[in-house]
Amino acid sequence: MTTHPIVLIPGDGIGPEVAVATVRVLEAARAPLTWVEHHAGVAALDTLGEVLPDQTLDAVRERGIALKGPCTTPIGDGFTSVNVQLRKRLDLYAAVRPVRNLPGIQTRYEGVDLVVIRENTEGLYSGIENEITQGVVTSLKVATELASTRIGRWAFQYARDRGRKKVTVMHKANIMKLTDGMFIRCARSVREAEGFTDIEYEEVIIDAGCMKLVQDPTQFDVLLLENLYGDVLSDLCAGFVGGLGVTPGANIGTDCAVFEAVHGSAPDIAGKGVANPLALIMSGVMMLNHIADTRGDESCRAAAGRIRDAYNQALSDGQKTRDLGGQLGTEGFASALIERIAG
Ligand SMILES: NC(=O)c1ccc[n+]([C@@H]2O[C@H](COP(=O)([O-])OP(=O)(O)OC[C@H]3O[C@@H](n4cnc5c(N)ncnc54)[C@H](O)[C@@H]3O)[C@@H](O)[C@H]2O)c1
Repeated sequence: MTTHPIVLIPGDGIGPEVAVATVRVLEAARAPLTWVEHHAGVAALDTLGEVLPDQTLDAVRERGIALKGPCTTPIGDGFTSVNVQLRKRLDLYAAVRPVRNLPGIQTRYEGVDLVVIRENTEGLYSGIENEITQGVVTSLKVATELASTRIGRWAFQYARDRGRKKVTVMHKANIMKLTDGMFIRCARSVREAEGFTDIEYEEVIIDAGCMKLVQDPTQFDVLLLENLYGDVLSDLCAGFVGGLGVTPGANIGTDCAVFEAVHGSAPDIAGKGVANPLALIMSGVMMLNHIADTRGDESCRAAAGRIRDAYNQALSDGQKTRDLGGQLGTEGFASALIERIAG
């Protein structure tokens, strides 16, 4: 049987806890994977002297796929974000974050089924900042036609492949006329020039878009956003379906893909054994489906299906972590899934 080597980057804070739980669940589901552990973030700084060692990047380049826990970024000073560096250096240009209601999790909304697609390599989120003189700083928003076009193409292709009906670009092109203006122009031209006109398309100014989202998120299907807007809206959308504990994600490039939850390292609960591992487990399910799609290994899709059935069943049975109003800890929830996979 073919096995797929995966780089496991446990990350910081709750990262190692949710990573251990996720690997247990993937193994119980007989996912044909082998693991090679490498480090990034504060964990790597402590042991290897840098936050994003070359050996970690080389390992992902060589194997093509990684499952990653969150990495802490200091606020206000200190090193630049490991996540930003990793996405740029591996050119993981498309972040994809599905947001769906799950059984057994009551929220204000029903029928939410949208996907946030975020340009992952440029824009204000790059954090290119400069102090001109004391008390005066700049933050540079760099946008290119190349990156705006390829993320537009990726979003329409994703919509087509998944049978999705509509792509909505949220932007601020009324104010950021050049950068966001180019982003929407590129999306429009890709749609027209590359034959995606069967997919409905709309442009919404992002402030009004946020209001529309909280009024009724079910009116949206695929959201296409530049980097910073995508970062902010991912967490907003996570709130529709139960929060950061249940929102998975993937960072996809031409040669590599890194799967990680939307959430961060959650220092407030790190080390307590209470973090919800489901977002990383669901990211693992996305990873298995990605392997099936790109390498044709259907045993990965079957393993993904077993895990999905197990978490849907566990949640329906009221087996939940504390962030969802339940009693289970990280390992307890993983065990609830493993029992159902075995069962
Ligand atoms: N991809 C990444 O590596 C990534 C993403 C976001 C934030 N970060 C980093 O994480 C650190 C903390 O950021 P933050 O506090 O703004 O966001 P966060 O996502 O870590 O936490 C926000 C809130 O959600 C809760 N939460 C998050 N994940 C949870 C889970 N799996 N189960 C239960 N509760 C969970 C936390 O306890 C906290 O109350 C920062 O250093 C930030 O830069 C990293």
